[in-house]
Amino acid sequence: MKPEWLQCVSCNARYPVDVVRYTCDCGALLAVERDAAVLRALTPAFFDARLPARSGLDRSGVWRFREALLTVDPAHVVSLPEGNTRLYAHGRLAAFAGVDAVSFKHEGDNPTGSFKDRGMTLAMTAARMLGASTVACASTGNTSASLAAYAAYAGMQAVVFVPSGKISLSKLAQTLAYGARVLQVRGDFDAAMALVRQACDALGIYLVNSVNPFRIEGQKTIGWELLADLGWNPPDWIVLPAGNLGNTSAVGKAMLEAHAAGWIPKVPHILGVQARGANPFARSFATGFSRRETVKADTVASAIRIGDPVSFDKARVVIEKTQGAVLDVSDDEILTAKRTLDRCGIGCEPASAAALAGLKKARENGLVSRESTVTCILTGHVLKDPDAVMLPVVGQALAGDQVVEVDATLDAVRAALR
Ligand code: F0G
Repeated sequence: MKPEWLQCVSCNARYPVDVVRYTCDCGALLAVERDAAVLRALTPAFFDARLPARSGLDRSGVWRFREALLTVDPAHVVSLPEGNTRLYAHGRLAAFAGVDAVSFKHEGDNPTGSFKDRGMTLAMTAARMLGASTVACASTGNTSASLAAYAAYAGMQAVVFVPSGKISLSKLAQTLAYGARVLQVRGDFDAAMALVRQACDALGIYLVNSVNPFRIEGQKTIGWELLADLGWNPPDWIVLPAGNLGNTSAVGKAMLEAHAAGWIPKVPHILGVQARGANPFARSFATGFSRRETVKADTVASAIRIGDPVSFDKARVVIEKTQGAVLDVSDDEILTAKRTLDRCGIGCEPASAAALAGLKKARENGLVSRESTVTCILTGHVLKDPDAVMLPVVGQALAGDQVVEVDATLDAVRAALR
């Protein structure tokens, strides 16, 4: 008997963890849960003692927390290993946001360049535990690259459903490089998501989108590793981009569990940031979550171009329980924030920069105070979306203006640098 079970987020029905199941009989999502005493028996010092490890599961920034994630046979673990991402800061970024200090947990430091690897190591381990041989997801690009890598590593077949022509070329190339089968769906991400759910049910393929409760367990470690980075002093706010809402659900669950376990004295507020053209969660928040919104999504931040997020209900609970908030920012605000991050030498993809743009907005409207301690989660690497570097921002020159072709002569160089 494992100490974990799957529990419906709506009616609280329970199911064992070792069956393939993503939703309750009532239709709502499932979460991995355990007795509160399991987490209370663990301590920050117990996890921190594993930090110097150079081999084995302790080396992974996910599996270091394994007693609080999922009880598995170590032989089933599929780990590259992930996590151990860096925390960055820069005075220019604090000034841009209008706060005294802000740190950035850069999940682009993961093996495939995005935060998805943390959830994927859990989901792929669950796939092995459940005896799956083929795994699938719908994706705006990062989940597909992560799935493809972990499946290749584990020797499983990966099938990914992407909105045709709507994901960054480098994410598509990365997914192909790792050997996945790619179905380019004629439609948007939400159509691909609905289709992969049907296909997995009909064809007996294991689904590893964030409806898969193990994905959320793995992604919790973004939050716990951040707490460890900060000496287990939680920030006032954690700011992150919000798309399909798996990450908002996961980081919030991490904070609520850490608080209930006595690892941290207070729960940080979670601030979810959406692109204005893909803002169903922000719209719903603005009505006090009185209704669930969906939109036809359109934004330059292709990673979060999602109009009907699957983890809506879980994320709503997180925003309510952490007394958090959700807001939206324009594409220009996203690109300006991205350019600011890039030009501090930190860099990220557009969706990630939504966090900084959202923090700036939250300062301007008084939600966050200047003295607040804040961490933004940067979800993806700067190389994930190279085309975005060339996009214009209102009132600013194209990055393309930095590039000049010259003859191979010193005179040409002198002329170009004048
Ligand atoms: N940032 C990046 C870089 C992402 O790729 C995603 C989601 C998000 C933020 C939003 O996280 O969906 O958990 O709210 N990307 C998914 C994908 C949808 O398919 O790669 P979320």
